[in-house]
Amino acid sequence: MTEMCIRLRAVIEDDLPRYVAWLNDPEVTRYTGMESGEFTLESKQEWLAEISQPDHHARFWSVDAATDTGWRHIGHTAMYFRYDNRIGDISIVIGDKTAWGKGYGTAITREILRVGFEELGLQKIGLGVFTGNVYGIRCYENCGLRHEALRRRAHFKRGQWIDLIQMAVLREEWEAMLNQLVDGLCEIGPEHLKEVLALWTVCDLWPHPHETEEQIRTVLSRNRAWAIGWRVQGALVGTAIGANDGFRGWLYRLGVHPDHRRLGIAAALVNEIEQRLSAAGIRQLNIMVKRRNTEARALYDKLNYDDTEVDVLRKRFGGKPPGHREKVT
Ligand SMILES: CC(C)(COP(=O)(O)OP(=O)(O)OC[C@H]1O[C@@H](n2cnc3c(N)ncnc32)[C@H](O)[C@@H]1OP(=O)(O)O)[C@@H](O)C(=O)NCCC(=O)NCCS
Repeated sequence: MTEMCIRLRAVIEDDLPRYVAWLNDPEVTRYTGMESGEFTLESKQEWLAEISQPDHHARFWSVDAATDTGWRHIGHTAMYFRYDNRIGDISIVIGDKTAWGKGYGTAITREILRVGFEELGLQKIGLGVFTGNVYGIRCYENCGLRHEALRRRAHFKRGQWIDLIQMAVLREEWEAMLNQLVDGLCEIGPEHLKEVLALWTVCDLWPHPHETEEQIRTVLSRNRAWAIGWRVQGALVGTAIGANDGFRGWLYRLGVHPDHRRLGIAAALVNEIEQRLSAAGIRQLNIMVKRRNTEARALYDKLNYDDTEVDVLRKRFGGKPPGHREKVT
């Protein structure tokens, strides 16, 4: 499944009315340690003031999902951790019920694991999940968390005792999972951003003067494009991004590591994108190639791509002076 596109950002005052509504919905708090009915705007304002203290022991984020009209606030996530033992505990609540069952839980878990291991330098990340929360358990399993213990009667909620499963993933397990020690074609997502940018750097496809890491992260997560890669002994050595704009298909960021060229990897990636576009009912694939890029020209000749009568025109917003017209070279 293509990863849903989400982002974590700081909690702001404007989010609070949504938190109050979500947390007072008993369906939303069913599998959490919180109980609905007790949340007010004032209580959440106090909470925001408290978590904004620089010495607070946990980090909290609002979660936004990408939609056709922009970012939409759908939930919340937190990381409770101590620097002295570098172990973190996460919690996730998707408050917007229209966002349930669409893969956002997995996307949020993957992102918070990335933040915990990559940015906070943690060694182990875990959580406690109610035994009845079968979708939650599956989502955490998919993200590499393993069952560690069952805590019987860990919680008393709504008139009954609840058992809690303790799950966790170690840093090396997470790293091995990211590298998926397999060779050949693979899907790539925002969790592979670092590897992708490292590869693009040696392929001279990155850095790009008009693109940011955040944009690339979004492209790698959005569900209208196919971001695929090629691995050799777990290392990412090739990428291609196919996009379907509704009229025709486009191919971007075809790159193969210099140590693995002339082995047919690029041809295999282009072939895969062609097949996916064709299966989506698209009959034409366009590629923009710099005229001086002889390797790429040779590749596309071999793959039967024709030159066209069409020039690609470009306007860079806020970039060139009025009247300036630039062509791809
Ligand atoms: C262009 C690029 C993606 C090709 O990757 P690759 O994995 O080496 O390509 P393949 O092995 O699949 O090549 C398939 C065919 O393309 C042609 N080809 C590819 N590279 C070639 C080269 N340097 N010289 C001549 N022909 C070449 C050959 O016909 C080759 O078949 P053959 O080896 O049986 O003769 C790679 O050189 C690259 O990453 N370049 C930098 C990034 C870039 O320019 N991307 C393209 C943006 S549009």
